[in-house]
Amino acid sequence: MSVLKATAVACANIAFVKYWGKRDAELNLPANSSLSMNLDRLTTITTVEFSPDYDDDLVILDGREERGETRQRIVAHLDRVRAMARLRARARVISKNSFPSGAGLASSASGFAALSLAASRAAGLELSQRELSILARFGSGSACRSIPGGFSEWTAGSSSEESFAEQIAPPEHWDLRDVIALVSRAKKPVGSTEGHSLAPSSPFFQARLASLADRLTKAKAALLEKDLATLGPLIEEDAISMHAVMMTSRPPIYYWLPSSIQLIHEVQNWRAEGLEVYFTLDAGPNVHLICQAADQAEVERRLRDIEEVLEVIVSGPGPAARVIEP
Ligand code: DP6
Repeated sequence: MSVLKATAVACANIAFVKYWGKRDAELNLPANSSLSMNLDRLTTITTVEFSPDYDDDLVILDGREERGETRQRIVAHLDRVRAMARLRARARVISKNSFPSGAGLASSASGFAALSLAASRAAGLELSQRELSILARFGSGSACRSIPGGFSEWTAGSSSEESFAEQIAPPEHWDLRDVIALVSRAKKPVGSTEGHSLAPSSPFFQARLASLADRLTKAKAALLEKDLATLGPLIEEDAISMHAVMMTSRPPIYYWLPSSIQLIHEVQNWRAEGLEVYFTLDAGPNVHLICQAADQAEVERRLRDIEEVLEVIVSGPGPAARVIEP
């Protein structure tokens, strides 16, 4: 029997127009379309090996064997791949992040993108980028945007076949930077999957959805024109709109720490001083500062002067998920 083993690497991504709330939790269809950039310094490398000799699936993340919910989620994903490939063998999954997982840095995006590619290849499947994006979406919604390279749009769609991400511009299109100010390494209090299910209970959720199509169209055009003065305010507006929904859902979710709001103020002050930088936050307290390559060093320097900032991680636009030699 041939070796059923493959290794893949995938980037995390930062959404400029975010996904919050699902129209179908089972199929993982989002309530809205979203727009993102892959992050070249935040990667997950995953090796999957299927073997008739294994009694059970084994999942090792960052050197530790997973047993609980995380393992279940990964086994469910392996089951999807096994069903597609008509394969029964159990698997060994070994995965490593280049960054702290569970700290709001979207480890599920790079993780499920790398797992989808490694597992499908190991199982002998040659999926198209669209099929891979759909598969990754079942693992974690945002993971579908980590399959294509550079800048991607995930079209919400109204069926599973219609809901996938596609590249709208390659990494070379625009040397934007995401300078992440890490203010906490703690696991987030409420995971995104649970957060998504609470979104419709916010009285502001429908208002957010009503404003999204227009924001996405404008953000996409600004991105294609490399117009940060237009894109930046849209990125901030979208993050605040999402966090307003989070904070007003029932029960509410407060992802921000005092240091998060401190950094939001700093970004506004720096911009008033002429430094072109904008903020966004995912489901966590860490602040992503978006700027052009020429301003990266100055943004980084200022962040390193702030005591509450534990670590600074800088990414440029990252490539597509790809298979690598083990
Ligand atoms: C705040 O993709 O992590 O990062 O599909 O339930 O796994 P699941 O959720 P997930 O949600 C990401 C939410 C976000 C915004 C975004 O990346 O668009």
